[in-house]
Amino acid sequence: MPQADIRVALAQLPTPLEAAPRLGQALGARHLYIKRDDQTGLGLGGNKLRKLEFLLGDARARGADTILTVGAMQSNHARQTAAACARLGLDCELVLRYGARPAAAYMESGNVILNRLFGARITQIAAPASREEAMAERAEILRAEGRKPYLIPVGGSCLVGNFGYVMCAEELLQQIATLPHAIRAVVLANGSGGTQAGLVAGLHMLDARIRVLGIAVEGRRREQEDTVFELASATVAALRGRRLPRAAVTVLDDWAGPGYAKPTPQMLEAVALAARHEGMVLDPVYTGKAMAGLIGLFRQGYFGAGDGVVFVHTGGAPGVFAYPELYPLYGEARELAAAGPQQLSLELDPLPEPAATEPEAALAGSAEDVAAAAEVSAVQADIALEAEPAVQAEIALEAEPAVQAEIARDAASATEPLAASPAAQPACGGDGTVVEAAHPAHCSESADAEPQAAAAPADVPGDGLEDAALAETADGAPAKRAPRARHRRRPGRTPRSKAAQ
Ligand SMILES: Cc1ncc(COP(=O)(O)O)c(C=O)c1O
Repeated sequence: MPQADIRVALAQLPTPLEAAPRLGQALGARHLYIKRDDQTGLGLGGNKLRKLEFLLGDARARGADTILTVGAMQSNHARQTAAACARLGLDCELVLRYGARPAAAYMESGNVILNRLFGARITQIAAPASREEAMAERAEILRAEGRKPYLIPVGGSCLVGNFGYVMCAEELLQQIATLPHAIRAVVLANGSGGTQAGLVAGLHMLDARIRVLGIAVEGRRREQEDTVFELASATVAALRGRRLPRAAVTVLDDWAGPGYAKPTPQMLEAVALAARHEGMVLDPVYTGKAMAGLIGLFRQGYFGAGDGVVFVHTGGAPGVFAYPELYPLYGEARELAAAGPQQLSLELDPLPEPAATEPEAALAGSAEDVAAAAEVSAVQADIALEAEPAVQAEIALEAEPAVQAEIARDAASATEPLAASPAAQPACGGDGTVVEAAHPAHCSESADAEPQAAAAPADVPGDGLEDAALAETADGAPAKRAPRARHRRRPGRTPRSKAAQ
């Protein structure tokens, strides 16, 4: 018998959609909102709980008794998995990787303390050892002991996990429908890609005219976009939606800096601005860089003062305590930050035009959004196994890698052919057979990245930052406020070539 509904309740939902007037004023943004997914509650909250509602529901449906997952030492995903397992009475095993010269706080504070508090069993491995191999080995041992392990890929980014942010798209649209003006873009951190993929898939299923901009915390734009596109396409296909256009996926790598968890002046400024204007805690690895991207998009003129923009706060606050060497630097990096990317590496398309021009949008847009939000129940029903029992049953019960690919392929052939191969989906769960994540080189919390941030000596506060700043100035000149580049283009105008800017 197929499961009626694999989702288990873990997160406090809906999370608030809050106006951020003081931060907005500092950026010249009149309609800036924060989707507070840092406030999902359990285990200090964060974006991964939405994915875990489906992943752990799937695990329970399969009779798993032990959850295995992987990440960096300070993985927020690992911490939320540990908390969720505690809540559901499942054993939790974490394979956490550290770098070459790990600092004490990085190894022992922040998320690491919480993992131990939640009772997770931790296997530490040193970079560059493969986390997936270590997880597979551990799963073998557990099976030999008669346990039933369920494996979750890095970041929980896979078909089953992606449904969490499809549901978030519904929630967000319902909240947006109550606002007095249109929202034209959503900005969020991009790591392993599942959060963005779920949102993109959900907004696409609901025909929302909202641009989603992922700000990469590491890796190159193209690779990250390919990952998100593959994940989102397979999700849409599994829900039997219309084919996802490639243009629906945009990732900007201009604020990633030298790599994962490596600080940048723009990140430091963003964390300080959010804290000092809204009392809001961002983290140095994900949301700090994502907010730096949002700030940059306003400063560069891609977003105008009247554009409604939502920033998804995906959590990560415990990570703040793992990088004490950064404390003296928050807020001190303003001038350096101003010398950040002056010109985006990507030629951005204009923002989608809202339903009507303001102030009419206040009424007309809302009505349309409410109608769209009402349609969401179709998406919800799909995920809850009412609308597409065959697909859902397979998702719930047959998530072997090969079968997952088959599900996506079947669903795709029922609509239009997918541009990207759904076989590239990282595998969720199953009997412990680990398939190497499809994008090992650029999934979140990658190996090489961990050491540098952790290695910054606490007594040399500037260490690493000058380099980061120079990496983002064309000529290596010291930071000074440079003229704002204009990237905003009004719809209807032919995009200028990058060279012409
Ligand atoms: C705080 C925080 N924000 C954003 C992300 C990125 O989410 P995703 O891996 O789904 O791209 C992560 C991933 O671990 C995270 O911990």
